[in-house]
Amino acid sequence: MFTGPPDRPAGAHTGLVDTVERVRAAMEAVPRERFLPRAQRRHVGLDRPLPIGHGQTNSQPTTVRRMLELLEVADGDRVLDVGAGSGWTTALLAWLCGPRGRVVGVERVPALVDLGVANVRACGMPWAHVTDARPGQLGSPAHAPFDRILVSAEPQDLPGELVAQLAPGGVLVIPVAGTMLRVTARDDGPVVERHGHYRFVPLVRDDHRDAGSGTPAAGGGEE
Ligand SMILES: C[S@@+](CC[C@H](N)C(=O)[O-])C[C@H]1O[C@@H](n2cnc3c(N)ncnc32)[C@H](O)[C@@H]1O
Repeated sequence: MFTGPPDRPAGAHTGLVDTVERVRAAMEAVPRERFLPRAQRRHVGLDRPLPIGHGQTNSQPTTVRRMLELLEVADGDRVLDVGAGSGWTTALLAWLCGPRGRVVGVERVPALVDLGVANVRACGMPWAHVTDARPGQLGSPAHAPFDRILVSAEPQDLPGELVAQLAPGGVLVIPVAGTMLRVTARDDGPVVERHGHYRFVPLVRDDHRDAGSGTPAAGGGEE
C-alpha cells in the first residue's frame, strides 16, 4: 500500500519544483484513505476536512499539501508533527524525511494517539512515531531541536515554546489566528512570513483541556 521514500542524499533540495514534486509524490505514496475511519472512506475524494472522532478532523488535502510545500522537508530532517490526529501528516513527513530522518508526532487526545500509533505503524516507516502530548508542555522539548515543525491546530498567538524547539535555520509552519505562518529560526530571531487564511481546530493548552471542533473560515482553507 505504501511506497518507500526515494533514496536521496541528505539536504538534497533543488528548489521549488523539486519541493512541489516531492510533496506530490509523498501524497501519492501515503494515501489519505488508510487514515480515515471506515465510515469516512467513501468521502476520501472530497477536498475537505473529515471527522476522525473526538471533535477532531483529518485535514483537508489541499491544505496539507500547501503546508508541506511551505515546510520543505529534506531527507534526513528531524521533524515534529504537533496535532498528529489520524497519523496522516506524521506518515507524510516520515516519507519526506526518509529513514535517515525521524518524526515525532504528538497528539493530546488519548484515543487519537492510539489511532495515530496504529496507522503510522502500519506504514512501515519505523523512524516515525506518535506519542502523547505531555501535560503542561507544547511539542516535544525532550526530542528538540527539530529542523522542521508542522502544527495542524490553531493558537491565537505564535507559541514561543515551539519556536524554541527549532534548530538554527529550522522552519515552523503553523496557522495562527487564521493566518498560515512560516517561521524560520535565524541567529537574530525568528523571521515570520504570512501565507494566506486558514481555519483549524484550536491548539489546546492542556492546563485547560477544552478542545472544540473549530470553525471554518469563510472563503478560506479550513481543517
Ligand atoms: C486538524 S487535526 C489533525 C490532523 C492530523 N494532522 C491528521 O493528519 O489527521 C488537529 C489535531 O491537533 C490536536 N491538538 C490540539 N491541541 C494539541 C496540542 N496542544 N498538542 C498536541 N495535539 C493537539 C487535536 O486533538 C487534533 O487531533
